[in-house]
Amino acid sequence: MKVYIDGQYFDEADAKISVFDHGLLYGDGVFEGIRMYHNRIFKLSEHLERLFYSAKAILLDIPLSVDELTNACVETCRANGLRDGYIRLIVTRGRGTLGLDPRRCPKPSVIIIASTIQLYPPAIYETGLSIVTVPTTRNLPNSVNPAIKSLNYLNNILARIEANNAGVEEAILLNSDGFVAECTADNVFVIHKGRLMTPSLSAGALHGITRNTVLECAAALGVPTSEPLLSRYEVYISDEMFLTGTAAEIVPVVKVDGRTIGNGKPGPITQQLIEAFRARTRLDGQVIFP
Ligand SMILES: Cc1ncc(COP(=O)(O)O)c(C=O)c1O
Repeated sequence: MKVYIDGQYFDEADAKISVFDHGLLYGDGVFEGIRMYHNRIFKLSEHLERLFYSAKAILLDIPLSVDELTNACVETCRANGLRDGYIRLIVTRGRGTLGLDPRRCPKPSVIIIASTIQLYPPAIYETGLSIVTVPTTRNLPNSVNPAIKSLNYLNNILARIEANNAGVEEAILLNSDGFVAECTADNVFVIHKGRLMTPSLSAGALHGITRNTVLECAAALGVPTSEPLLSRYEVYISDEMFLTGTAAEIVPVVKVDGRTIGNGKPGPITQQLIEAFRARTRLDGQVIFP
């Protein structure tokens, strides 16, 4: 595997950054997870836009332009001969001193890993996930805002540990008011009486690119959508449920906190949306190999 670091390609074993990089010392940096499908980098421009927004929010100057980052992502896929897979694009604050002041980090670092990813066991996509609500709440918007895709995922990791301890693969995080925010690396959707609902972004969630794509697919299919505040009650009484994320794609949920969702099987609207989403991945995105 060839890894891109600051304009150079390194073999996996030699792809190293400094132990003084504030990305490591403090989780100071931002990232994106991006998929390639059928020789296209799906939604690359949306991911780069979000990367620049995250960086702006933490006053991090990305040392490359959007065009340069686009080329670097394409080149890293080509260097690895990948037409399908997963890109991890990282911008760290860079090498600094042991104090946390980012002014001591003169040069941010850009890292691009092109590989593959599998988040959940494949059978889950057929049978659906069983998940739980966990005690760890989503970050408050006035702390590290959940819209910032930062390198500090400890909030999500704590929730994932709580899910692991409960013997399930995912966790619903509520916000501090008790409304559903999102899962550890996915946005949440429920369907009730034919209406597709996903929590309002103001409940505290990443502005998911898969979430947006699914809302577009629903509109194209004529499925009504809304973005309300969702409590656990609305989740428990829903007919269908699924999670969305670049790595997870669309994963059906069939049980929440011991309550069976719908008839306990992935539902028909979920299936339609999965098909519509798959069709989009064939058409949309930056071509890798001409
Ligand atoms: C916390 C969190 N929420 C939601 C998502 C889903 O976002 P997207 O569909 O843009 O990958 C992710 C993954 O990227 C995530 O890390």
